[in-house]
Amino acid sequence: MVQFTLPRNSKVKKGKAWNPPPKDAEKGRWREYRVYRFDPETGENPQLDTYWVDMRDCGPMVLDALIWIKNNIDPTLTFRRSCREGVCGSCSMNIGGTNTLACTLHVDDAPNVVAVYPLPHMPVVKDLVPDLTHFYAQLRSIEPWLKTDSPTPQKEWQQSREDREKLDGLYECILCACCSTACPSYWWNSDRYLGPAILLQASRWIDDSRDERTGDRLDQLEDPFRLYRCHTILNCTKACPKGLNPARAIAGLKRQLVERSE
Ligand code: SF4
Ligand code: SF4
Ligand code: FES
Repeated sequence: MVQFTLPRNSKVKKGKAWNPPPKDAEKGRWREYRVYRFDPETGENPQLDTYWVDMRDCGPMVLDALIWIKNNIDPTLTFRRSCREGVCGSCSMNIGGTNTLACTLHVDDAPNVVAVYPLPHMPVVKDLVPDLTHFYAQLRSIEPWLKTDSPTPQKEWQQSREDREKLDGLYECILCACCSTACPSYWWNSDRYLGPAILLQASRWIDDSRDERTGDRLDQLEDPFRLYRCHTILNCTKACPKGLNPARAIAGLKRQLVERSE
């Protein structure tokens, strides 16, 4: 029988324990966080460090706790964040086994012991920071901007209210990558499969009444890997912290390809 072994640095070691609460600690005041730590420059395996956070001194979201840890216990802890209100997509990570945004997840909605890992199946730059270079290259490949042949109007490209509404559920995507990194097809084929986030973006431009390159855009997607590696498993829709439905957008793209071939 074939035997598989994990790459050496994929085995996560037990790490350090930081800031344990005092013995007479008030019940419910301290919260335990187990956080993935990895620094490729050390050559060491990743480890899971344990931090106790004084919730009386800390904001209510998981991102607040990570910032508290960085400010009060361990300044080397590395993660991305910017807006702190669910609009930039920077703080996406895997919390309690689910891909989500740390800034919009209330600690009361997380498991009692909060396990925090980077987004799965991505190379890690450091700690909770995944390398999104390939993800952004895939975004560039679908040319996510308005493409037209008609002369540019004096004021603006107009759109009817009905056509504008067709973009609802698409334009709100913040490119956090929670969906793509929850998709098994993307895990195994991300070199050629675009994944749900990028396909939702493709759909956003294909469905835009002002765009005049719909045919070219569909040609680009008509490929056994780029689009058709989606097997409608629906992890993507379940994972989206903005409540969007990438699986429906992908189904819409497949339908448009069938319709134009009829
Ligand atoms: S529906 Fe498609 S894109 Fe979404 S998780 Fe499943 S295979 Fe991936
Ligand atoms: S569809 Fe949702 S989960 Fe996917 S990148 Fe956009 S906002 Fe994030
Ligand atoms: S910090 Fe911007 S989405 Fe969380």
